[in-house]
Amino acid sequence: MKSTFLPLLLAGLVIFQSCSNKSSESSESTTETQALKIEKTDFGKLPDGQTAELYTLKNANGMEAKITNYGGIITHLTAPDSSGVFDDVVLGYDSLAGYLKSSPYFGAIVGRYGNRIAKGKFALDGKTYTLAVNNMVNHLHGGTVGFDKVLWKAEPIEGEEPALKLSYVSKDGEEGYPGNLNVTVTYTLKKNNSLKIDYTATTDKATVVNLTNHTYFNLTGAKRDILDHQLTLNADRFLPVNETLIPTGELKPVAGNVFDFTKATAVGARINDPKDQQIKYGGGYDHCWVLNKKDKELSLAATVYEPTTGRIMEVQTTEPAIQFYTGNFLDGSITGKKGTNYPKRFALCLETEHYPDSPNQSAFPTVVLKPGETYQTTTIYTFSAKK
Ligand code: GLA
Repeated sequence: MKSTFLPLLLAGLVIFQSCSNKSSESSESTTETQALKIEKTDFGKLPDGQTAELYTLKNANGMEAKITNYGGIITHLTAPDSSGVFDDVVLGYDSLAGYLKSSPYFGAIVGRYGNRIAKGKFALDGKTYTLAVNNMVNHLHGGTVGFDKVLWKAEPIEGEEPALKLSYVSKDGEEGYPGNLNVTVTYTLKKNNSLKIDYTATTDKATVVNLTNHTYFNLTGAKRDILDHQLTLNADRFLPVNETLIPTGELKPVAGNVFDFTKATAVGARINDPKDQQIKYGGGYDHCWVLNKKDKELSLAATVYEPTTGRIMEVQTTEPAIQFYTGNFLDGSITGKKGTNYPKRFALCLETEHYPDSPNQSAFPTVVLKPGETYQTTTIYTFSAKK
């Protein structure tokens, strides 16, 4: 009796353990090794015949990030709600074709200079550089073919915290910028459900650099707009802009106006304030907040809480500022993943960066990178849920 029962009991235990989510230490490490393989699939062909790949990073909790080496775009990113259910919290397309046709920088790496440079001109070491004017009268997000539209070299790094290292060499003169720029962007999916982004760059000629990521977040899992998302920004000042969204140079206190997110506030609470000239210029929020911080420390910049799912996103960065954009230019003309239509304010972007138009505003922290120096910044998006 005893000798037949024991093996049966053991087999039952093994089956139970491999089915259970709350598995013991030893069975978890087996699941981890299986789960942490980085999957690589074909994402589609570029017009020049090159193939873009899609890499799937998973952590042991079941969180997933899908990233393509075309534009370094995060195409999918899942996060748990208060019942532990993971859903995709970023906007994008199902295949490369959508991104090639038209994309408002969904999920992409933005550079060489993220955000605007007034009139597409700046001077450096006595020389004036002319860039593409691709946003009203200004230069935006690196120009006609910015870092969001190039194919990056990809190196998957498997491990307990899987990573994808992307590299790109932006040639001297590309999009009008001086210097050969060697750029790397490494995405790491951490055990604690955060996506860490490390940016580095070096140059052989003085140049300007401002790299960021342009993911459109919707913590409902793209079920409804983002007006009820509650935002906290660790920023006492923001940069007012002119009618073409170039900072005036002033660092204005947020106290007493609709830019005050120092306490959690619904994004939609004041977004249509008819009296606020800045809101009118942006068509909502499309402004840069100056973060409260000591020089270059990694610190909490923003927290977003979505009340219907309990999802929380925290943004930490070494950057001095954050552009908060409320998808004001989305207009329903884009149908994205799984046939979901994206109307106005269907997502929000929190782009960590230096101030817009810094190359022309000497009072702003410098964005100049010189030969021998290394540009290095980190931004971490961490996901959790209120129980
Ligand atoms: C940034 C800009 C916006 C808009 C979007 C892309 O966030 O500040 O004005 O251009 O990118 O549509």
